[in-house]
Amino acid sequence: MENHYKKISSLLYNSTKPPGTDIDGDLNFYKSQLLPIEGKVLEAGVGNGRLLIPLLKYKVDITGIDKSQEMIDICKENLKKENLQANLICDDLENYKEKNTYEYIIVPNASFNLLETRQKALKTLENFYDSLIDNGTLIIDLIMPIEFRSGSFHEYVHEIEDKKILVKNLSKEINWVEQYTINQIDYFINDKLQETQEFKLSWYGTKEFCDILSSKGFKDGLFLINYGNKTNLNIKTITFIFKK
Ligand SMILES: C[S@@+](CC[C@H](N)C(=O)[O-])C[C@H]1O[C@@H](n2cnc3c(N)ncnc32)[C@H](O)[C@@H]1O
Repeated sequence: MENHYKKISSLLYNSTKPPGTDIDGDLNFYKSQLLPIEGKVLEAGVGNGRLLIPLLKYKVDITGIDKSQEMIDICKENLKKENLQANLICDDLENYKEKNTYEYIIVPNASFNLLETRQKALKTLENFYDSLIDNGTLIIDLIMPIEFRSGSFHEYVHEIEDKKILVKNLSKEINWVEQYTINQIDYFINDKLQETQEFKLSWYGTKEFCDILSSKGFKDGLFLINYGNKTNLNIKTITFIFKK
């Protein structure tokens, strides 16, 4: 199974999370990490530019990469609307490296959980390592399947440019041994099925992920829960900050 944001899922992401949208304090967190620096930044899984565009406005020298051409096209349109320019690359993270280039690589909003296999995740970490400059920093946000209930289903209608899109989201499977969940999301317009997105999210234990990062050469690591916000008692996001 390949996770892919096609046309409607990308449009929906952009409509519900346009550039500048903050999710649980992540925009301020990334601003605080990146504004003091002058080197190059890579956002891996850039999507529609939700974070890249506000960061560009703060003069961060940021490049975006995403394997979904549909997302890249939306990101380009969003840049154009703001009269901004950025280097955008359409490629899979498992294939991309640019030796000794980036001072920071950031992977916000669970894009890393979307890497379908362990093998792919490990290859991607090796690429990140090679692409960072010495002493460069890798920041990865991971989520845990704390709310996942197999068989649960929800649907909602979202309107984009006068089109009503009915979204049906089924939580299909949780595999506790191989550590992944699968959702099937169907998108309908005028009662006709337009797109199906099968979504496999892999998760990692906190200690396990620190060990994986160390095994790939990363060091001086720490992790942060919910961007340091102690009022949220559920563990929603764990952010790993490691050095090359
Ligand atoms: C949840 S969106 C996050 C977008 C953006 N980073 C944000 O914070 O709003 C995840 C993005 O990761 C991209 N992605 C998933 N797997 C990828 C891969 N193997 N290579 C490159 N991009 C990938 C998806 O296409 C999607 O645009």
